[in-house]
Amino acid sequence: MVTYKFPKDFLWGAAASATQTEGAADKDGKAKNIWDYWYEIEPERFHEEVGPQVTSNFYSSFKEDIKRMEVINLNSFRPSISWSRLLPDGKNVNQKAVAFYNSMIDELLEHEVEPIINLYHFDMPLHFQKIGGWENREVVKAFNYYAETAFKLFGNRVKKWTTFNEPIVPVEMGYLNHYHYPCVVDMKRAVVVAYHSMLASAKAIHSYREMKQDGEIGIILNLTPSYPRSDSKEDLEASKIADLFYNRSFLDPSVLGTYPDELVQLLRRYDLLPTKEDGDLQLIRDNTVDFLGVNYYQPRRVKVKETPIESETILPENFFDPYVWPERRMNPYRGWEIYEKGIYDIAINIKDNYGNIPWYVAENGMGVENEQRFINESGMIEDDYRIDFYREHLKWLHKGIQEGSNCFGYHVWTFMDNWSWLNAYKNRYGLYRIDLDTQERSLKRSGEWFSKIAKNNGL
Ligand code: BG6
Repeated sequence: MVTYKFPKDFLWGAAASATQTEGAADKDGKAKNIWDYWYEIEPERFHEEVGPQVTSNFYSSFKEDIKRMEVINLNSFRPSISWSRLLPDGKNVNQKAVAFYNSMIDELLEHEVEPIINLYHFDMPLHFQKIGGWENREVVKAFNYYAETAFKLFGNRVKKWTTFNEPIVPVEMGYLNHYHYPCVVDMKRAVVVAYHSMLASAKAIHSYREMKQDGEIGIILNLTPSYPRSDSKEDLEASKIADLFYNRSFLDPSVLGTYPDELVQLLRRYDLLPTKEDGDLQLIRDNTVDFLGVNYYQPRRVKVKETPIESETILPENFFDPYVWPERRMNPYRGWEIYEKGIYDIAINIKDNYGNIPWYVAENGMGVENEQRFINESGMIEDDYRIDFYREHLKWLHKGIQEGSNCFGYHVWTFMDNWSWLNAYKNRYGLYRIDLDTQERSLKRSGEWFSKIAKNNGL
């Protein structure tokens, strides 16, 4: 019996990214991206020194993997294209990459799994990083050329595109922290990276429409709802600032076409505004998204700044402190709070404040370490914790939809275990397990469960 029925044609699927799944990192003409390079120079930064060369070998096993998607009733899948595979020197098309992405797309369509193709998932080509990456406006132009090339090559079959996955992450991890290459900590540079990524997204959307492509184009943002410790004026203000930096910095320009005034004023006060060129703001205003993808993993709990600021550098953390909610439940492996209601709050926020734009959950998932402890006699991982995680999020999502939020799908992170940015294969997320020694795939109990949800369009 289905108690929580989802709308007709609801998308049930999974997300992935090129660097995390394809492997073949130095094969068939692919050039290096920042991950290939960083691993080369600092392998010890990666869990058990496992790098991005092989990952889950999707480059070779995609046909079998897509059949596995069909087996568990996925009707959609969101991989990314590797920029450095498609255009190794930024200009000339790599025909082997075209062949690979063509076959992948055709195979998906043949198995009735709708492709949602993402263009950028943290994987800056190395030669562009060497000239400054997103700090350099030339790279914005180069991205547009890459986007146009992809639309031209694959747009006849791909009807849903996204420009970026989580554009705030390279800003936060690579320019405000040491977690992604180039490991810079500089708010002024971080703001430029964010601004240019936003411009790149708007420019690609503009090109998509100029090229009269008959599909839709969106962006995927990781929204971390900010919850204040209390209703005090100070805590509320702290939470508002966290929301401005981490959510509204991309959400507002992507959906509404404008930056929040409070954010602009705050950046101006600290002399952090990026250099604009004529036409930039108009470009952003005119090229908002057709739909939004939302990755939701955890909330952000915030209180007024109580700890002294140690460095002279301005960072978002100068404006608020993290708050540890005594009732929180944690995923101890990833260190992220599990708060299912967050997905409902996002649904209502989009409905009330973002024109009820069509949106889907583009990632939601739970990474767990050492999952082989849960293998049963028949070799299946009994990941009941993951089933609970999905079930509770889906119930809250259902409530949001019942109350009018325009959500058209739910994608898990992820289809099969894959390589993660610094954690490599430490935490596993897949509906399918991967044995890294043999690259064999086996369905987990959550995969079996998810296949029923997808088939019944509800739970
Ligand atoms: C999302 C990213 O932020 O979270 C994925 O889009 C990532 O690329 C996923 O893998 C899970 O995070 P992590 O760091 O545990 O792999």
